[in-house]
Order: sequence, then structure tokens, then C-alpha cells
Amino acid sequence: MASDQNTHLFELRWQRSEHDLVSSLTRLYGEHPDLISRLKVLLAARWKDRPQPLKDLDLARDITPDWFLSEQMTGYVFYVDRFAGNFKGVLKHLDYLEEMGANYVHFMPCLKPRPAPNDGGYSVMDYRAIDPRLGTMADFEAVTSAMRKRGMSVCVDLVLNHTAKEHEWAEKAKAGDKKYQAYYWMFGSDAEPKAYEKSLVEIFPADAPGNFTFYPEFKKWVWTTFNEHQWDLNWSNPEVFLEIVDVMLNLANRGVDVLRLDAVAFMWKRLGTNCQNQPEVHDILQALRSATRVAAPALIHKAEAIVAPRDLVPYLGQGRHAGREANLAYHNNLMVQYWSSLASRDTALMTHVLGTHFPESFRHACWATYIRCHDDIGWAITEEDGAAVPGVSGPGHRNFLADFYAGKFAGSFARGAIFQENAATGDRRNSGSFASLAGLEAALDSGDAAQIDLAMQRMLMGFALMASFGGLPLFYMGDEIGMLNDHTFTSVKEHAHDNRWLHRPVMDWSAVERARKGKGHEAELFGGVKHIIARRKAVRQLAADAPTRVVDLGNGKVFAFLRLADEGPLLGLFNMTESWTSVSASVLRGLGILELRDLLGEGILTPDSDAVPVAPYGRMWLV
Ligand code: GLC
Repeated sequence: MASDQNTHLFELRWQRSEHDLVSSLTRLYGEHPDLISRLKVLLAARWKDRPQPLKDLDLARDITPDWFLSEQMTGYVFYVDRFAGNFKGVLKHLDYLEEMGANYVHFMPCLKPRPAPNDGGYSVMDYRAIDPRLGTMADFEAVTSAMRKRGMSVCVDLVLNHTAKEHEWAEKAKAGDKKYQAYYWMFGSDAEPKAYEKSLVEIFPADAPGNFTFYPEFKKWVWTTFNEHQWDLNWSNPEVFLEIVDVMLNLANRGVDVLRLDAVAFMWKRLGTNCQNQPEVHDILQALRSATRVAAPALIHKAEAIVAPRDLVPYLGQGRHAGREANLAYHNNLMVQYWSSLASRDTALMTHVLGTHFPESFRHACWATYIRCHDDIGWAITEEDGAAVPGVSGPGHRNFLADFYAGKFAGSFARGAIFQENAATGDRRNSGSFASLAGLEAALDSGDAAQIDLAMQRMLMGFALMASFGGLPLFYMGDEIGMLNDHTFTSVKEHAHDNRWLHRPVMDWSAVERARKGKGHEAELFGGVKHIIARRKAVRQLAADAPTRVVDLGNGKVFAFLRLADEGPLLGLFNMTESWTSVSASVLRGLGILELRDLLGEGILTPDSDAVPVAPYGRMWLV
């Protein structure tokens, strides 16, 4: 591209973003002409560096900015070392991803972390280097470019709430450099930490109690929300904003399509609050989004905010942030409600929560839908939501779920563990792999074929749910072949204290071979997953831009929603129990589902009566 044309494009994109950018930065930092001009210079420099193939992609995505909403998109998530050893190994497994139908791949933290313990890589000491265990930046770029040629997108984690205490900014701060001390939250006495602490919660109460750490070497208290080695960045300092924009564009220029912005809820502190989900966080996210849209429009942002519904929705852009904030956000509530309904065999709470608190669609944004990930499950069920459903209370139900998924509740099919019990609040979360939580581990141990089948049906129902609910579905490595809890994590010194490693196994390629040969439960699951992904791609109504409306079919075993697509409505229907049930054909017809054609099972239902039978853990995509 000729250079004047390049400059022209840059100017057009600057004009497109200028208002969104300047208005959010002004709300954050006040009138600050110097900040805006420095930012523009930075963006122009990074745009100049941007390799031509990525500039081509920018143009393509300027024309189709909602590319990630397509029903063609399916995600797969893994730790590079656990999936393939290193980045060179990833190249050898691209065929596997294609075989599954995945075309969006999230490499779990892969930037250079501090030496272990490093919170699974979320304690980053250098944003510009690849974790040396996984390869070099050149290896990484070889992977992103190979994936781009196959039409696959790359997502990486960007931890922007904190750096490792060994990051060069932190090292300079420790050495007394005032400029860098202002990058963090450092206090000369414990007065302020104590005042903040009054309204803060603890994230890892068992491992890392409190939110501040005192360092006798330099006599300061430092804000450390997560672990002692993770120092919270001070986003009220515009220098931090400029630094991170530079980091983002550097990654974008290496071929990253999606940045997963880690722990965004915590980025702004306000005395007297829990310092989560503050309004300023939404301005920061809008400013970051508008900035990268100028210099790397092919890039999109995914927010990781694992919070209650009311706080979650704004991350996809509401009010003045509509269409201007994160493009993707994790729908942790869908995950929580799936597990809740399975355990209670009742969908009333799920229908209430998912039907009440969430908009039917978003502007230039959608959910990342998932059932399991690398983290624990926090039972984000509020007191109000519990109270809204007869027979349920928030605390009672949260306790029940924690017991159920730790396998402690009589008759539970699940095998899992309690994560970070908080003695003060009674809060308990759970660890465990999809398969083990869904009953496969216990069923295989018992050798009971009927139980094994039920566990697999639970999983396939969950996969079909996340593939159709509305959003970009994320399959977590190993779930497609039913990998069980990895009880060996306790033998790894750095992992033993953190039972999230129970569900972060090493990929079992021999199980994949069995699956390919059509053997064992792996074959049935893998076949089922491939079928669901293939069908998703064939059904235009499942694109994320078709609104999702949760409907109550009057049957407490069933969860259902309409996808209100231009092509006509599609009804997703899921039996969350192990018994047969039925729904009324006339009710379905009243919702515009006239033909009763199941686009997942690929057949037309012809019930003898008005009652349409639904199998145990049955799932249908009806039109
Ligand atoms: C996110 C990650 C989690 C990590 C935390 C702190 O929640 O998903 O694994 O412990 O951030 O970086």
C-alpha cells in the first residue's frame, strides 16, 4: 500500500474513534491534551510497524466488523505446554483443531511469567517476550501466521490488572524510582490499606489472605489483590494507560486477533467499595478499545469479569458504552446455571436468572459461552435471585452446589473439590473437570454402562447448550474426549497448593487416537462434539447477532430459549434431568416453531399427541 494511502487510512480510523477515545479519557483523567497527542503519536508508530498481511486483515475486518459473531466461529482453549509441549508443537496439531472444527484458539498465558509460582502464568514479568518454556517470539509468530492462513484466530491473555513483582516497572519502583512507584498502589503506612480493606473481599483467602503486602526492604505497602507476587497496576495514572496500549499493539502486530483482558473488574479502586466493577473500568475499556481500533482494527477485546449478572452485562457495552467496550465477555452465569440445574434437576432458577438479567443482544459484541475453563466455579447466585424462586435461598443453594460438586452430597454423581473455602464468609467454590463434575469419573470407576452413558449425555447436552445459546462457544482442552480430574497435580511442587490444577490436565493424545479409531467413550464424545460444531456452522440462526430470548415452557425439567433470527425463530430445548419428559407441541407452535424440525438431531418430530417427548438430557434445535 502506498504510504499516503496508509496515512489516509490511519487518519480516517482516528476520526472514527476520536470521540469515543477522547470522551472516555477525559472522564478518567480530565482535560489532558498532552495525553491525547502522545497517544496519537504512539498509535501512528505502531500502525507504521504493522506487517502488511495484518493491514490487509484490518481492511477485511473494517468491512465485516462483526466477523466474530458468525455461527462459523468455534473456540478451543489450552495451555500450550499441556497441549503440545511448545509453540513448535502447536503447528503439528493444527490439523486436530481443524478436524474438530475449531477456528479460534486461545493460548492460555504464554507471555514470560516470573519463575514459579506464577499463578499459572498470570504473573507476567515481560509482556514483550514469550514464556521461554514455550519458545521464542519467532516461534509464536510462525504459529499465528500459519493459523491466519488457515482462517483461524488467535487469542492470548493480557493481564492488565497486575504485573509480576519482577516486572521491570516493579523493579524500578522497588529501587525508589518515583515515576514507577506511581504505576502501582504503594503506601508509606498501613492507614490507607486498612481503610480500603474494610470493604474489600479476599480472592484467594486460603492462599493469599488480605489485599496488601508489606515489604520491609523498601518499607511500603503494595496493593496485591490476587497473590503477593501480583502487584496491582494503578490505572488512575495515564502513564499506565499509554504503556498498556503499547503492549496491546505490540501483541496485535505479532498476529494476535483477540486479547483476553484478565481480571478487568479490579482495575479501578474506590475507597468504601469492594473496588470491583467501578464505572471508570468501563471508561478504561472503552478507551483501550477505541485506541486499538485506530492502529489494529482487526483486533478485538474479550473481558474476563467473573461477577454477578448486574455487574457483568456492562462489560459488553451498555448506555454510552454500547458497541464501544469489550467485544466478548465470559458468560459465567450460563456456566453456573447449567451446573445448578443439573444438580437440582430443576430449571426454575436458570430460567429466572438467564431470562431476567440479560439483554437479548448486544451491539458489536457477544458472549463467550462455556461450561468449563481453567478456573474454579464460583457460585455467583445472588440472595435476590435465590429468593425469587420458591424453595431456594441464595446461601442455601450455594452451599448445596459446593457440596454437590465436591461429591459430598449424598447421591451426587460429581467428583470435584472445594476451592478456597473462606472461613469468615462461608463462601466455597469448586474445582473439577467437565467430565468428572458431570459424573464420568464416578461412572467409569463403577463400570456401570448406564451411568457412563448418562454422564456423556450430560456433557453433550452442555456442549449443545453453549454452541447455541448465543455467543462464541469455547471448548476447553480435553473436554471433547472426556478427560477426567488430574489427581497427580499434588505431586508438582508449584501446583500442589492450588487445586485448579485438578482440571488442567496434560492432553491425552492416546485417547484422541482411541476416539479416531471409534473406540471407547472418547469416540462417542468426540464424535458428538464434532457433530455439534458441524451442525452449528450449518445453522445461520445460531449466529451471535440473532437475539436470545429465554422462554418458560412450563416444564421445570427443561431449559429453553428462542433465537430470534431473520430466518425465523429457532428454539433451543434442553432436558436438564435424567428422566424422560415432554413439552407441548401447541406451545411450541405458539412460539413460531411450526415444523418441529430438529436441526441438531436432523429430523422432523412427529409426536402422536400434543406431547413432544424429550429424552433424558435431550437437546434439540427446533425450527
Ligand atoms: C483470572 C484468571 C485466573 C487468575 C486471575 C489472576 O481470573 O482466569 O486464573 O488466577 O485472573 O490473574
